[in-house]
Amino acid sequence: MEREFVFIKPNAVRRSLIGEIISRYEKKGLKIIALKMIQMTKTQSEKLYKEHEGKDFYKPLIDFVLSGPVLVMVLEGERAVEVVRHMHGDTDPLKAFPGSIRGDYGLTVRKNIVHASDSQEKAEKEWQIFFDQEELLEYSIGEENF
Ligand SMILES: Nc1ncnc2c1ncn2[C@@H]1O[C@H](COP(=O)(O)OP(=O)(O)OP(=O)(O)O)[C@@H](O)[C@H]1O
Ligand SMILES: [Mg+2]
Repeated sequence: MEREFVFIKPNAVRRSLIGEIISRYEKKGLKIIALKMIQMTKTQSEKLYKEHEGKDFYKPLIDFVLSGPVLVMVLEGERAVEVVRHMHGDTDPLKAFPGSIRGDYGLTVRKNIVHASDSQEKAEKEWQIFFDQEELLEYSIGEENF
């Protein structure tokens, strides 16, 4: 079982897309093991996007993720990292296939609706920015059915 860190970006929260997006993860068979709505702090955003520091889109990206509440979550399932990134689609919503979250709801690269870690190692580092270990919950969704 893999764990994937995801957050729903502020524009998607403002556009009332939370339910729609969470519903897709649930229907796919991913288990939500942690979830909360937060106003990200500057420190958290800088930790999260450390790899992009110095790039031209860095500062506007930080300003954007701090522009309103986001939903942070940890999803668990077989091959969760790859599965979630397929569901999100290409970073550029123009290239993301229709049927993917960015393909269906996104228009611009910066405001591309959702974030997901690109490896299990990164996922663990990234969820630790937002959650304590004991906030990750253990329960069954009848995994044998997926
Ligand atoms: N050229 C760009 N112009 C504006 N924003 C960008 C650009 N490249 C990346 N971003 C923003 O930075 C985020 C992180 O970029 P990254 O290359 O890690 O994309 P990703 O791995 O597809 O998406 P994410 O990490 O958000 O799941 C992107 O989701 C996007 O919002
Ligand atoms: Mg990334």
